[in-house]
Amino acid sequence: MRTPLIAGNWKMNTLRAGAVALARAVREGAPADGVEVVLCPPFVHLGAVGEVLRGSRVRLGGQDCHEKPEGAFTGSVSAPMLVDAGATDVIVGHSERRHALGEPDALVGFKTRAALDARLAPIVCVGETIEERKAGSSEAVVLRQLDAALAHVRPAEAPRLSLAYEPVWAIGTGVVATPREIVPMHAALRARLDALWGADRAGAIRILYGGSVNAKNADEILALAGVDGALVGGASLTSEGFLAIVEAARKGGASAASRVSRGEGTR
Ligand code: PGA
Repeated sequence: MRTPLIAGNWKMNTLRAGAVALARAVREGAPADGVEVVLCPPFVHLGAVGEVLRGSRVRLGGQDCHEKPEGAFTGSVSAPMLVDAGATDVIVGHSERRHALGEPDALVGFKTRAALDARLAPIVCVGETIEERKAGSSEAVVLRQLDAALAHVRPAEAPRLSLAYEPVWAIGTGVVATPREIVPMHAALRARLDALWGADRAGAIRILYGGSVNAKNADEILALAGVDGALVGGASLTSEGFLAIVEAARKGGASAASRVSRGEGTR
């Protein structure tokens, strides 16, 4: 049974005062159990947001990390720096970096490795563009991205990973993928993980959905077979919206647990 994970990706939003206020409200409203919560503020707010979250169950994450631990890489932030700032988690391979900044699949694999070396929990993002979906190659693209992202992960490290399936056309657009798009993709990702590492090890890996998740659609999305949480962008920028999604995950997780205890399975 996987505890659901809800990660808020604030992207390039918030100034310091707003970031602190948002983190405080999430900390105060987050439930005591049944769901894990991670906030990923802009790098410059990690220290301030980390102060707010210190001693709480809400974790701190980076939105990206460099593939090297240090060096002459102007403007970049390394995984050890994130840890030093109090982070426990990091997003890697977000489509906005893959597409807007041209980060290739192989680089995501090196970043995943760097995150693990620093003892961060990577949230590895994969997802197809609308052109790739129309061409019928969604699954091939997503599995190719997955294989590259995991190329340097050792089997024993598998349980520290999470994945996020984020169709590019659903991110920030208000268009949510349908259950018929989400469920088979999550099943394909799960099958690949099982094939790679065996169901025992891979079973701990959570597969999140991301792309226009909000307070209104969260119940339905988080109840889908194979969806173990959400990576939330726009709707993570208000505490009310984000906490409603967190609560939907907690409720969904609780009902999945009771289905397991009644022997009905989770997938
Ligand atoms: P969105 O972004 O929720 O605003 O669509 C999700 C993401 O990019 O992680």
